[in-house]
Amino acid sequence: MSEINNDLWLFDYNQGAAYEAFSKCQDVFRVIETHLQNNFDFKEKVILEIGAGSGKFTPFLAKQCSKLYVVERSASLMQINRDKNIHAINTEFILSDVKDLAMKPNSIDVIFAGWSLTSMREYFGIILESFRKFLRKDGIILLVENAGNDEFCKIMNLEEFTSIMKNVYVDMGFTQRKVVSTTIKLPCKNVFYDAFPNKKEAMLPSLEIQHKVLILEMQSSVLFQKITCNHKEEG
Ligand SMILES: C[S@@+](CC[C@H](N)C(=O)[O-])C[C@H]1O[C@@H](n2cnc3c(N)ncnc32)[C@H](O)[C@@H]1O
Repeated sequence: MSEINNDLWLFDYNQGAAYEAFSKCQDVFRVIETHLQNNFDFKEKVILEIGAGSGKFTPFLAKQCSKLYVVERSASLMQINRDKNIHAINTEFILSDVKDLAMKPNSIDVIFAGWSLTSMREYFGIILESFRKFLRKDGIILLVENAGNDEFCKIMNLEEFTSIMKNVYVDMGFTQRKVVSTTIKLPCKNVFYDAFPNKKEAMLPSLEIQHKVLILEMQSSVLFQKITCNHKEEG
């Protein structure tokens, strides 16, 4: 994936407040959560949320499942998330890089990554190996990613990158489940520019930005098969 330019990646994650201000404006009508709730059964499940940021999805996931592990490597974002979820007694926060994560084998039903797995693309090999260990036999990995072909990706100049990543995920064994149309609703343009300091030159046509979001899924069985094949090819 050497053709993917790391500079495309966007936020300064130490600026937790600016990130959170933008995050609150994403999917204001909660179309993603509604889709997840209607199509996946999280009841009695153990979920591992990776790259949780300031907690866009954490309160929703905590309400749906029996136990939630939340992993994030930015201390400032994790603190915002902790503060928002102070009463969620089923939720455990782990400040760690996902590639260094140690969980009990066969302990996780759902690995959930909201706009985060792409940031970990340099270590996909290591990360998928650990997912294979953590995930139960009937587990799944669920991704929320940019679908592309929308105002947001145009503004961010992410069209080509998004299309490359979609193919990467399909090659990895993910199935594209659904594209949902969401709305980013900004109170003012500075919320966007503060969150994306290297996008100061980007033109915002209005305070409402259309954002298409792709839900991808991989079953444990597919992951197990892929990892076994990779090992055979290496051997
Ligand atoms: C685009 S943000 C998404 C955050 C959140 N899931 C959301 O939907 O708002 C990506 C997040 O992944 C985190 N992240 C990236 N690479 C990581 C890694 N290797 N280990 C842990 N967290 C990571 C970043 O710190 C950031 O919070």
